[in-house]
Amino acid sequence: MIVAIDGPSGTGKSSTSRAVAAKLGLSYLDTGAQYRAITWWMLTNGIDVNDAAGVADAAGKPVIVSGSDPAAPTITVDAVDASGPIRTQEVTAAVSAVSAVPEVRARLVELQRTAAAEALAGIVVEGRDIGTTVLPDATLKIFLTASEEARAARRTAELKGKEAQDLAATRAAMAKRDAADSGRKTSPLAKADDAVEVDTSELTLDQVIECVVTLVEEKRIKA
Ligand code: DC
Repeated sequence: MIVAIDGPSGTGKSSTSRAVAAKLGLSYLDTGAQYRAITWWMLTNGIDVNDAAGVADAAGKPVIVSGSDPAAPTITVDAVDASGPIRTQEVTAAVSAVSAVPEVRARLVELQRTAAAEALAGIVVEGRDIGTTVLPDATLKIFLTASEEARAARRTAELKGKEAQDLAATRAAMAKRDAADSGRKTSPLAKADDAVEVDTSELTLDQVIECVVTLVEEKRIKA
């Protein structure tokens, strides 16, 4: 059972993916965390994230390891816990540029396919291009959407207490990142033709989780 969950930020992708994996006893992989981790490594090693050739040259250097437990997702870079630093505004602002570099994507897609192949009980993989590029034969593909208002409000609430952010600034930063992620040449954010689209704007998190769990169970019955 391989479940691909794609969509832009603020749609409830991570919370949904983790909860669905935990409920169904599946492994979990947050591919966005991997793009953030490689971005953090570039920033801490003085690589200009806007220099695509420099980023491409360095793409193979950091060792990135993702834990697969949905109850406690972990990510390390060169054996250092990166789960805190990858969520800073500095990394968020730089991640689209780094993730547009084909050498970075090739490197991480390989890690992602290996993780899916090794997850014997099955896995929920969340990202932007999982259904289209990374795992085109996934058992079930979900594409989460939500209105820009709903997404910005959720992201602002998420950041509250962690970083000073207001709604307008969050909305602008989010729109900029989505445009970059959707507009890049190599495997942009996109809905696969055979993905089920779920608009989460008017749904609670529990309703979204329930909806995805039902879709997985329907697939299991048919299989
Ligand atoms: O899901 P997230 O916001 O943590 O993802 C961070 C960035 O990583 C996102 O702006 C685009 C990139 N990303 C990607 O290009 N492909 C993926 N499969 C996952 C994330």
